[in-house]
Amino acid sequence: MAEFEDKVIHELDGIKEYDNPMPGWLMAIWWGSILFAAAYLVFYALAFGEGSMEAEYRAETDRALAAIQVYLDANPLVPSPEELLAGARDPVVLELGASRYARSCASCHGAEGQGLIGPNLTDDHWLHGGSISEVFLSVAKGWPAKGMPPWGRAMPPAELTAVVSYVRSLQGTHPAGGRAPEGQPFTPEPLPET
Ligand code: HEC
Repeated sequence: MAEFEDKVIHELDGIKEYDNPMPGWLMAIWWGSILFAAAYLVFYALAFGEGSMEAEYRAETDRALAAIQVYLDANPLVPSPEELLAGARDPVVLELGASRYARSCASCHGAEGQGLIGPNLTDDHWLHGGSISEVFLSVAKGWPAKGMPPWGRAMPPAELTAVVSYVRSLQGTHPAGGRAPEGQPFTPEPLPET
């Protein structure tokens, strides 16, 4: 080890510490990675505006959300018939449904569902099917060409469900001055026992 004697930088109890610099190639990788990290930080993590990581992330999530919305518009999440029918017996659901009905539906279907511009919702005749799931789809998707707006995106799911349960609770109430029955007869599905 004599050729390294001049490189001894420290000696204690016969143990010698040499000054052994790291090989050049390793130092090159070391400095290179520091420079790369600094450049990476500036170009990607700290950059903002178009082309930044955040903008890329937002563009991708926007694309995904748009695809989900297209799917949901074509396939509204239909609550189970059991849930909708049970709601027609649930005072809490009916209260929410009634207030939503008064706000969004009464202007066309009458305050008591007797029909006005829109058909009578209290009789057992239906233009688009009277099963609770069909009524849900009528309300969620609407019949825009016939003047019935789609409500699926216009109200939160809980209110949409509640208003359909409320419509079911109007079955057979025969309010005065109701519009004549339209469409096909449908025997209402029984409500669950309470
Ligand atoms: C702007 C007026 C208007 C509003 C507001 C409106 N509707 Fe309608 N609705 C109509 C018309 C018109 C029809 C009939 C569509 C047709 O002839 O195909 C209809 C049809 C329906 C049907 C299908 C009836 C059947 O015989 O099959 C249901 C159920 C219904 N509406 C429920 C609702 C509910 C619940 C709301 C409130 C969330 C509502 N509508 C708000 C105008 C309206």
